[in-house]
Amino acid sequence: MIEASHWHPVALAESVTDHPVAVTLLDQAVVLWRGEVGIVHAWADQCPHRGARFSLGKVIGGKLECGYHGWQFAASGQCLFVPAMPAFTAPATHCARRFQAREAYGLIWVCTGGPNAGSSNTGSVFELPSFAAESDAALYKLNCGPYDVATSAPRVVENFLDMAHFGFVHEGWLGSRPTATSTASTTISDYLVEPTATGLVATNCKAWQPRSNVHSTAPAQVEYRYEVTAPYCALLTKVPDPASVALANFRESIGLFVCPLTSESSRVWFRLAVAHTELNRASDDKLRDFQHTIFMQDKPILESQQPKRLPLDLQAERHTAADKASSAYRRHLAGMGITFGVC
Ligand code: FES
Ligand code: CO
Repeated sequence: MIEASHWHPVALAESVTDHPVAVTLLDQAVVLWRGEVGIVHAWADQCPHRGARFSLGKVIGGKLECGYHGWQFAASGQCLFVPAMPAFTAPATHCARRFQAREAYGLIWVCTGGPNAGSSNTGSVFELPSFAAESDAALYKLNCGPYDVATSAPRVVENFLDMAHFGFVHEGWLGSRPTATSTASTTISDYLVEPTATGLVATNCKAWQPRSNVHSTAPAQVEYRYEVTAPYCALLTKVPDPASVALANFRESIGLFVCPLTSESSRVWFRLAVAHTELNRASDDKLRDFQHTIFMQDKPILESQQPKRLPLDLQAERHTAADKASSAYRRHLAGMGITFGVC
């Protein structure tokens, strides 16, 4: 399964402290825990002794202790101590199944299919999804989520790329229908979609938005740029008309990082990177509230879509030219051989 060779977000980094944390990735139960120097480990959440969940155990002195018979495992996965047989030296076979883990963008990322994932997994590992805004010191960053959504990860990504729903799902916020007294429009003007190695980039996307961000003071024409950075990750950069925002040079990037829990359920984080000055920055709560409001509008629609898996056969649903970013996304997933969360 090619998606197992990609990095996926599984938890907020700050949520993994001195207790094991149970997460799910691609139908696989995973335990996260921090070792002695703060390094995060991701293992199959199943003790090799009798199959109990490691996440019911404890972290003791840089080792993970299973909650059933107290076997202790080193960061290498090797069992070092069996309380029922203190003199027993466990052979190399008495070992936890390890995955690759790393920390980035305030999240823990796991790859279950890489070369260190066990002798049966030797697939290549893709790059961590990019988020260029991360290294831009002028942008303030914070995460929103997790949000658990009862749909597949590709449905969540496709909705993120979809601008034609703004005037309906996000009416009064990211879009509006035209009226006799307003110049609002739900028309999607032509935009450019180009394939990239990780997915696609869509540029010259324009939307008329009543309230495009936390600092909005007036409706504005907003320019969007979308990029699909991994099968289940995307980012958008928004630049509103400067006259509509209280803060000079306002711009923002939003990373969408989706964990495919099962093929029909997802856990979602947004990483916000927003322009600010020391004196004029919306509080974390205000920034999160805005994103929360928008995503709570998307969620019931997402959970209503049938089938929950994204159809990759372009004949299975109907399209217009306004949907060309999502059609390109479907073609990209098909071309990569993605099978999880699609049909
Ligand atoms: Fe883990 Fe027995 S099941 S120590
Ligand atoms: Co939406």
